[in-house]
Amino acid sequence: MDTSVAGKTALVTGASRGIGRAIAFGLAARGANVVLSSRRQDALDAVAEEIRAAHPAAKVLATAAHVADPHQAQDCVAATVSAFGSLDILVNNAGTNPYYGPLVDIDLPRAQKTFEVNQLSIVLWTQLAWRAWLSEHGGTIVNIASIGGLSTEPGIGFYNATKAAVIHLTRQFAAELAPRVRVNAIAPGVVRTNLAKTLWENFEQQLNAALPLRRIGEPEDIAKAALFLAGDDSAWMTGQTLVVDGGAMILPQVTV
Ligand SMILES: NC(=O)c1ccc[n+]([C@@H]2O[C@H](COP(=O)([O-])OP(=O)(O)OC[C@H]3O[C@@H](n4cnc5c(N)ncnc54)[C@H](OP(=O)(O)O)[C@@H]3O)[C@@H](O)[C@H]2O)c1
Repeated sequence: MDTSVAGKTALVTGASRGIGRAIAFGLAARGANVVLSSRRQDALDAVAEEIRAAHPAAKVLATAAHVADPHQAQDCVAATVSAFGSLDILVNNAGTNPYYGPLVDIDLPRAQKTFEVNQLSIVLWTQLAWRAWLSEHGGTIVNIASIGGLSTEPGIGFYNATKAAVIHLTRQFAAELAPRVRVNAIAPGVVRTNLAKTLWENFEQQLNAALPLRRIGEPEDIAKAALFLAGDDSAWMTGQTLVVDGGAMILPQVTV
């Protein structure tokens, strides 16, 4: 097991549930100090308690922030460094998808929200972590993209465009911040979380049958990849996007 995250400090956005919660659990289990962030303090406090119950030695801080609010983001990063004296691992995980339907019909307020939460926040939190700690001391950044950012799909076209941007921002930041900071991304397929409920809730059996690995993802499937990218096992990787999708991307797109 890679133990290189032990004693490091990790800040996880969108940590109140789903994939972010699973990543925070995984980091705490390996001895990292973990800062949980999302909009709802009560939900974060509950996850912090669950982590402490499962890992009594874990050092956990819960601090609410809207991921697209520069002041709240700044306060969260400052609170992280103040509490633990470092910020070695940033996991840009928070995401949203307020609109389902044809891209051509999306209303601008929901497009704006999707852009700010999924795409602009990656720039904001990376800048803040870089200035507060990473530029001087180095570290790793893991961005959560989506396989939707690698192809087209009905219903969630604008969300997917922001995820394509996350994949490109990962490459661009990796090039700019090397060698001190490694930046990689994960492109999950359908994972059993609130965000993706409309994609799996009524279709789980069909999805399971269609996927090469015969099941949709669990948050822990993505957390394992995040731990790999956050720690030294991926020491010679930067700018890459790891697809973790049960084989969805190898399904034939057009059959003859
Ligand atoms: N589930 C999938 O199938 C799937 C597939 C590909 C990619 N992803 C990506 O995986 C990431 C995690 O999503 P998930 O599936 O785990 O969804 P989820 O269970 O709905 O969790 C989303 C997390 O983001 C937080 N969040 C949402 N809006 C926020 C905001 N404006 N500011 C701060 N935090 C905010 C939520 O907390 P609050 O609501 O309390 O703020 C929550 O902690 C997202 O980037 C998503 O796009 C998911």
